Amino acid sequence: MTLWGGRFSGKLDPQAWALNASLPFDRRLALQDARGSLAWAKALQGAGVLTQAECDSICKGLEKIGHEFEEKSFIFQESDEDIHTAVERRLGELIGPAAGKLHTGRSRNDQVATDFRMWVMEAIPALMQAITSLQEVLLKRAEADEDTLLPGYTHLQRAQPILLAHWWLSHFWPLQRDKERLAQVRERTSVLPLGSGALAGTSFPVDREALAKRLGFTQASTNSLDSVSDRDFAAEFLFGAALTGSHLSRLAEQVILFCTAEFGYFELSDSFSTGSSLMPQKKNPDVFELARGKAGSLLGHLTGLMATLKGLPSTYDKDLQEDKVPVFQAFDTLMALLPVLGGALQSLTIHVERMQAAIDPAMLATDLADYLVRKGLPFRQAHTLTGQAVQRAALQGKALNQLSLAEFQSIDKHFEEDVFRLFEPRSSVARRNALGGTAPEAVRKQIKQARRKMQMSE
Ligand code: ARG
Repeated sequence: MTLWGGRFSGKLDPQAWALNASLPFDRRLALQDARGSLAWAKALQGAGVLTQAECDSICKGLEKIGHEFEEKSFIFQESDEDIHTAVERRLGELIGPAAGKLHTGRSRNDQVATDFRMWVMEAIPALMQAITSLQEVLLKRAEADEDTLLPGYTHLQRAQPILLAHWWLSHFWPLQRDKERLAQVRERTSVLPLGSGALAGTSFPVDREALAKRLGFTQASTNSLDSVSDRDFAAEFLFGAALTGSHLSRLAEQVILFCTAEFGYFELSDSFSTGSSLMPQKKNPDVFELARGKAGSLLGHLTGLMATLKGLPSTYDKDLQEDKVPVFQAFDTLMALLPVLGGALQSLTIHVERMQAAIDPAMLATDLADYLVRKGLPFRQAHTLTGQAVQRAALQGKALNQLSLAEFQSIDKHFEEDVFRLFEPRSSVARRNALGGTAPEAVRKQIKQARRKMQMSE
């Protein structure tokens, strides 16, 4: 039995039926559908469409259906086209013909848009919580590794020494922005489509503002044509998920590199690495490779939905049924990935000596240039002179700090005996003490800021 059978005498082709049906995936909206319907019944009663007795009976039926969903005892039928049909069919079984009054003034177009928004509004806090847990791991590592030095890279070339804590936190802040973004998406999702009917609005005097409040929305939508087809919230959610995926992927890429024998900075614990079926010596960072790979799929979900949306004429078109799967998948992907990354990062071993050993004196060339600046030279000139010193050392196969004072002075007379005191990586790091820099003092402030953010998200 379909909801729209009256106009038809023939039956839908079975394969077309299967293609059309969305129950296999939209059953995830079951609880939202039952709650949305309950609120709609009350709105209809307020509008004088349902008597108090009818409304009570519908609400009781819907509550029972809600319980059945929660207990997983709800039995779906072959003939249930989607979750909305299934709920209405079951309501009929439970309370009889009065069930047929529930759909007054409503369409599945405003109904599905409402259910889906409610689902996203609940999914976002769960996702934010999972992100917070990973942030906690990053922050704890930063707190624990406050004194460790490692080479910082640009273009993957050794650049300047930094604190490991600073590096951990560099992956904390993008996740913080992700959460702020998600919270904003949630606010924009909180606009109620219900009461827009199929497209033109409803002819019953429903108090949509009260309905919005009852369902936890901040407002009711202002244009019925727009609101049945507005999927900006889904696209924004997918953008948020894709960007989080990209942040996780960048972190993963660097962990993978640091776990190679060539770097040897990190070593994964056995619980979060895998072996090779052929090469007994291998310890593979699969978890991080999957993070990198899944970022691609997350981006695909976003572009897929954007492509679906771009050519749609005004109001509801069945193309919009394609909106849910990518959103569910993006959510599931991140919810599976985030805790595993947390576990893997929490349990990895850090080879402090390898990191320290990789800091070569040439990485302090900027400090050498700054030294000349402090002696009064313009930075551009200091940069050129320091470059000459680096070149001279390289030609002689020496480290930068192995040039003699005479050699330094042959490049420029501003170099003096104190130049050799520069080549201490810790002092170089400590000098970068302006707000947001890698100096221990600045990083300690940063850790405090990060802690405060974490307390705010509790
Ligand atoms: N299953 C549909 C969807 O997910 C529900 C809305 C159907 N509306 C309609 N006019 N056929 O979009």
